[in-house]
Amino acid sequence: MKFVRFIMKNAALASVPKHIEHFSKFSPSPLSMKQFLDFGSINACEKTSFVFLRQELPVRLSNIMKEINLLPDRLVTTPSVRMVQGWYIQSLMEILEFLDKNPDDHMVLGEFVDALVTIRNRHNDVVPTMAQGIIEYKEAFPKDLVTNHNIEYFLDRFYMSRISIRMLINQHTLIFDGAPNTIHPNPIGSIDPHCQVGDVVQDAFHSAKMLCDQYYLCSPDLILQERQNKKTNNPISIVYVPSHLYHMLFELFKNAMRATIETHESSNNLPPIEVMVSLGGEDMSIKVSDKGGGVPFRRIENLYSYMYSTAPTPQIGEHSRPPLAGFGYGLPISRLYAKYFQGDLQLYSMEGYGTDAVIYLKALSTDSIERLPVYNKTALRNYKVSQEADDWCIPSKEPLDLRNYKVAK
Ligand SMILES: Nc1ncnc2c1ncn2[C@@H]1O[C@H](COP(=O)(O)OP(=O)(O)OP(=O)(O)O)[C@@H](O)[C@H]1O
Ligand SMILES: [Mg+2]
Repeated sequence: MKFVRFIMKNAALASVPKHIEHFSKFSPSPLSMKQFLDFGSINACEKTSFVFLRQELPVRLSNIMKEINLLPDRLVTTPSVRMVQGWYIQSLMEILEFLDKNPDDHMVLGEFVDALVTIRNRHNDVVPTMAQGIIEYKEAFPKDLVTNHNIEYFLDRFYMSRISIRMLINQHTLIFDGAPNTIHPNPIGSIDPHCQVGDVVQDAFHSAKMLCDQYYLCSPDLILQERQNKKTNNPISIVYVPSHLYHMLFELFKNAMRATIETHESSNNLPPIEVMVSLGGEDMSIKVSDKGGGVPFRRIENLYSYMYSTAPTPQIGEHSRPPLAGFGYGLPISRLYAKYFQGDLQLYSMEGYGTDAVIYLKALSTDSIERLPVYNKTALRNYKVSQEADDWCIPSKEPLDLRNYKVAK
């Protein structure tokens, strides 16, 4: 019996490349916030969601699995990246088992929810494991600009794909697990149709403040203001995923607090962190301003790079507390969350003074549509960039020797 199972498992494994080839030919189908809400509305249909997901999840998984294979061999063969790849293959195989099952069978629908929960748990540690693979690779091989560009390009797409796959899984499992959700009165899965932005700002600020107090034994205060062009006194709210918004704000507050404290170490008064939430016709923007000394303009682009950090590398261990900074993933991942529903995150800094970090989100749920990577010729070309000469002059470090230009008399 064991032998038969072994043979069957190997046969299934052998067919994986064929499935990846097949499903990566389809483009992922981005969902709008409205479509997410419809799946969870009164006439929510578990069957429709099941039939959609058993096709869409393999498509999203296969599209990104094709890109893993475009990474340098020496990176793909690190034990950590191999492990991540193994999780993706396993999860793909588990979903494919539902392709020929009957959507009218309640047992099948229940098994599907269980399978999704298993998959979600399996992928919990993808970010630190992938990061570990990249650290291993960077330590072993010398710096190479093209490979660095490819890794940054890949990680943005890989983590965005992961955010989207987790969103699909969360929506299905939260809506169809049969248990009422008691935390929020009316969320649709992980989406809050009336997400009060000010409340999330306060929550994220207090969590960051607690962490900051543990490290520095002090923390700056918050000044929060809201502005909107509608004549109403109601607090600003949008249709959004509160956990995504919380994640971005928490990261921005940790950064702003660290900068504020490290710049005002010797002073008794810490300047507060000021937040402005503003709702317009098209954008809902949140500006987090600190007086933490800012960042040189030349460095701004580096801040979105994975693993760029000016903090000492934190020790990861059972008894260590969560660090305030140090992995360099805070900003790039937060920017992905903002971009996921067509928003963005930008930093405006004045070195010597402070930094404004602005989160831009869509004010209207009809504009909030998933932004997803697709594996195609353009993506392929982006992995093939080669290092060519710059088309702007590079100034020489040596002073120009004007004697060479002297006209003979
Ligand atoms: N508000 C800010 N003021 C000054 N420097 C900042 C600010 N925000 C970010 N930085 C700089 O950008 C770097 C990268 O920030 P990022 O949040 O991505 O990583 P980190 O804070 O170092 O580590 P973590 O992954 O734990 O967040 C920081 O190390 C810091 O040097
Ligand atoms: Mg940070």
